[in-house]
Amino acid sequence: MSITGHAKLAGIAGWPVGHSLSPRLHGYWIAEHKLDAAYVPLPVRREDFAATVALLPKLGFRGLNVTIPHKEAAFALATEHDEAAKATGAVNTLVFEDGRIIGKNTDVIGVIGMFHDAGITTLAGKTVTVYGAGGAARAVVFALTQLHASQIWISNRTQSKAEELADRFKGRGNTQIAAISDVDPLRASDVLINTTSVGMVGADHTPEPWRSSDFRKDGIVADIVYRPLETQFLHMGRAMGAKAIDGLGMLLHQAVPAFAAWFGIEPKVTPALRTYMLEALKGD
Ligand code: ATR
Repeated sequence: MSITGHAKLAGIAGWPVGHSLSPRLHGYWIAEHKLDAAYVPLPVRREDFAATVALLPKLGFRGLNVTIPHKEAAFALATEHDEAAKATGAVNTLVFEDGRIIGKNTDVIGVIGMFHDAGITTLAGKTVTVYGAGGAARAVVFALTQLHASQIWISNRTQSKAEELADRFKGRGNTQIAAISDVDPLRASDVLINTTSVGMVGADHTPEPWRSSDFRKDGIVADIVYRPLETQFLHMGRAMGAKAIDGLGMLLHQAVPAFAAWFGIEPKVTPALRTYMLEALKGD
């Protein structure tokens, strides 16, 4: 696919960035829609991020995705924020428009999309346990409140962070939120979701923060880790008879509003796209 001197530009800034599947994903949609556009990986160190954000709009970039370690810095540099960015204090998408820097958190839409793909459009009446209390957990907890979960329990290795996260979202809608020190098997949740890096290729896996008694055979387990696609967490859930939702859906759905904001076309998440992305995950 060739581009001209007028090509619309976007990309992903992170350190490291080489593992990112976003160039493959956005590249698929750019080709599908025959756009004169490019989406490139930008290896940007922490100390260079502010200068990068200052320069890229002048070079004609429409915007950026940002990943580790820049999500909080992107929030600070944005001159305006969408509701999800405000709620989470983190930005994964920047849109450069007429001198403005608009910060969005489309990870929230990603989480909602991954549940929608599994046929779940509401969590009203459901109890959800969230493992982890980092940046990703903030997007997940906000998304769960948007899906009207009735009760969210937050379980994290560092208890104080679980409490901070619960406090951040307390009082939103009708969702009850609390930090817990252990998942009580007597009240094992309808939905378990992993937001920690446990299970991810190359990460520390021990000890696992969950136990087999946390899983219910009629429950749902979801993981936002997608490398590998079938994490130990999902494997355990499936073995217990639970329905498993892998993390690829979140990756695909968080990209939709970003692509639309930069390139003016709302792309579709299709089975063909999922198959194309799965090819890149083979061998993890
Ligand atoms: P992210 O932005 O991807 O969420 P993060 O903010 O560094 O990354 O958060 C990582 C999360 O994974 C945290 O909840 C972390 O627990 P701590 O708050 O106790 O650090 C969790 N985590 C990472 N490795 C873990 C492990 N081996 N066992 C349990 N939890 C782990």
